[in-house]
Amino acid sequence: MDRAFFDQIRAYVDFGASDAAALATLAPALPRILDELVEDFYGEIQRHDEARRVLVDDAQLARLKQSLRDWARTMVSGPHDLRWFELRSRIGQRHVEVGLPQRFVLLAIARIRPRLFRLALEVAAESGRSPEPLLFALAKVLDLELAIMLESYLELHHARVRQAERLGTLGQLAASVSHELKNPLGVINTSLHLLGGELAKLPAGSCAPAVATHLARIQRGSRLAARLASQLLDFARGKQPEPRSFALAALLDDAIAMVEERDGVEVEARCDPPDATAHADPGQLAQALANLLRNACEAIREQKVGGKVTLRARRDPLGVVLVVADDGPGIAAEHKERIFEPLYTTRPTGTGLGLSITRDLIEAHGGRLSVSTAPGSGAVFTILLPQATR
Ligand code: HEM
Repeated sequence: MDRAFFDQIRAYVDFGASDAAALATLAPALPRILDELVEDFYGEIQRHDEARRVLVDDAQLARLKQSLRDWARTMVSGPHDLRWFELRSRIGQRHVEVGLPQRFVLLAIARIRPRLFRLALEVAAESGRSPEPLLFALAKVLDLELAIMLESYLELHHARVRQAERLGTLGQLAASVSHELKNPLGVINTSLHLLGGELAKLPAGSCAPAVATHLARIQRGSRLAARLASQLLDFARGKQPEPRSFALAALLDDAIAMVEERDGVEVEARCDPPDATAHADPGQLAQALANLLRNACEAIREQKVGGKVTLRARRDPLGVVLVVADDGPGIAAEHKERIFEPLYTTRPTGTGLGLSITRDLIEAHGGRLSVSTAPGSGAVFTILLPQATR
């Protein structure tokens, strides 16, 4: 979304200086309805599981209530300039990031609209002026808000389509290269293992220490290359899930067992209730969770901040929620936008495929993967899998 988009939608609804002036007359009266508007807005969210589930905790809810107040204030007081538009675009992007289904944006505006209209009628009656200009201005500005917020969903859709097209050809190439690489990498790994064994048999001090150091380095490098080859293959194949019923607690254990290199990072698993089950492809979900766990451990290790990852699984009325939360350094805003893109990585030992594979696996299950993070306060990856409670 850019300036041209903003100019276009403003021109289309014919929003101009007289509308801005009319809206400004509403600003002093707005505090009369703000509390009720905010409480009604979030009260309604609580009644709809699919809206409620994008909310993570009370701190976020408090932040949101404040955001909504600021939004309502700046909607009427303006100035309706480029900065105003950019702030609006960010709201839309944030909703897309947290996985808020698009219809709730429309529905939320539908709940806000009558309250604002009623206030407009009240203000007009008090001042003895015709309510028409204010009502028209309100209708236009709410349409602008909606157009901007909905455009973010469309942008996401276009980005996904472009990516799918690009990966069509690239994916085939990646699949064949990875397939060819698997064999030589397997040979290298086996030989390294045997060499390590031979080295261990030698009398202490009979071999330069550099030999062991370099062998370990080659081992790490070849393990990374093997992971890359196998992830590329998984990515390109995009295997369909094979669902069956399984215990969620066992899924968490399997995911933890798949991540060998945890380097002292504490990992805690919790399942609520402990005997909860799910119906999905347990192999694919374990891989998705293992990818998230591996990332969390690497983030903690590299930044030497924090030291604990928590894996949680729980049933909720709409399905299954899986969470991987770490207390590491968090993800900087500029990376957060891009971490799900294939081959995007910020780590020297990252393949840039873990998160995009994870997202694909979850979406193939009809689920959603989202992240919430702030620099310095860790990252929380949440998987939502819709399914009937069993
Ligand atoms: C009229 C419709 C809505 C408006 C005007 C609105 C406004 C906002 C604003 C101003 C922000 C802060 C954006 C930023 O970080 O810069 C935000 C974020 C967010 N909104 Fe909405 N919102 C709307 C609908 C909803 C609905 C229906 C939900 C359902 C739960 C929702 C959930 C969220 C969440 C989870 C965030 C991210 C908060 C965070 O992590 O800090 N929003 N919204």
